[in-house]
Amino acid sequence: MVTFQNKIVLVTGAARGIGKGIAMAYAKEKAIVLVADIDFDEANKTVTEIKSEGGEALAFMVDVSSVTDIETLFYSIKAQFGQLDILINNAGISKWASPYDLEVQEWDNIINTNLRSVFLCSREAAKLMRNNGGGAIVNIASTRALMSEPNTEAYAASKGGTVAITHALAASFAKDAIQVNCISPGWIETREYSTLSERDHSQHWSGRVGQPVDIAQACLYLTQQGNNFINGTNIVIDGGMTKKMIYDE
Ligand code: NAI
Repeated sequence: MVTFQNKIVLVTGAARGIGKGIAMAYAKEKAIVLVADIDFDEANKTVTEIKSEGGEALAFMVDVSSVTDIETLFYSIKAQFGQLDILINNAGISKWASPYDLEVQEWDNIINTNLRSVFLCSREAAKLMRNNGGGAIVNIASTRALMSEPNTEAYAASKGGTVAITHALAASFAKDAIQVNCISPGWIETREYSTLSERDHSQHWSGRVGQPVDIAQACLYLTQQGNNFINGTNIVIDGGMTKKMIYDE
């Protein structure tokens, strides 16, 4: 494993779930992790946990659906660290509602939180990265960018947009040595893994439901020095579910 020692790594939505798993993984690799979340109390708990294991981390309160919050966050990062090496755009929300009922404000909130934030955070991050020899960005999309259940329009659109903006940003930032990739997780259980059923696990070709560490390891891989030939792409991590044919027999 190539070292991440002293790399400045920003993870959005890192107070819990997948983002926390990613933050913990970088901290274990000796990076300085910036834990950004709308839930400042939980973000601070993540920081405390990282520090108790010997890592280095700092909490930032940010609502990624707010343009001002994002600008303030990057202003603080520039002032405190003067650079950023890695950005993981992980913060996201979901809400299932019939397309007949979904309110415009709900649509806007999901798109702004999940997709506009990826654009704004990546742009602000790139301004810092390009002055420091480059960097790496990973966007967390979803297999719902590729397949659907009913009543998921806003979330699916936000994640499809995340996959598309990934290759667009990779093209635009290439001249600044900034690599941009995307991960589309399938079912990643972030709460009570032990309560999952045998059927939950066995329906996956991998024989198990995913965990945050499955996504964290892919982030480390994508952002390791020397792996910059992987660029503009989307890696599906779902235990095989999007490749599984499910016609009724
Ligand atoms: P989670 O709900 O457990 O954690 C999300 C974190 O983001 C929370 O700490 C929350 O406070 C924070 N957050 C929410 N809105 C925010 C905002 N406006 N500004 C800043 N922070 C905010 O979610 P989970 O499951 O860990 O998901 C993380 C990412 O992975 C999301 O983008 C989600 O769409 C994606 N994903 C998750 C899958 C899963 O099975 N868990 C599957 C596919 C994608």
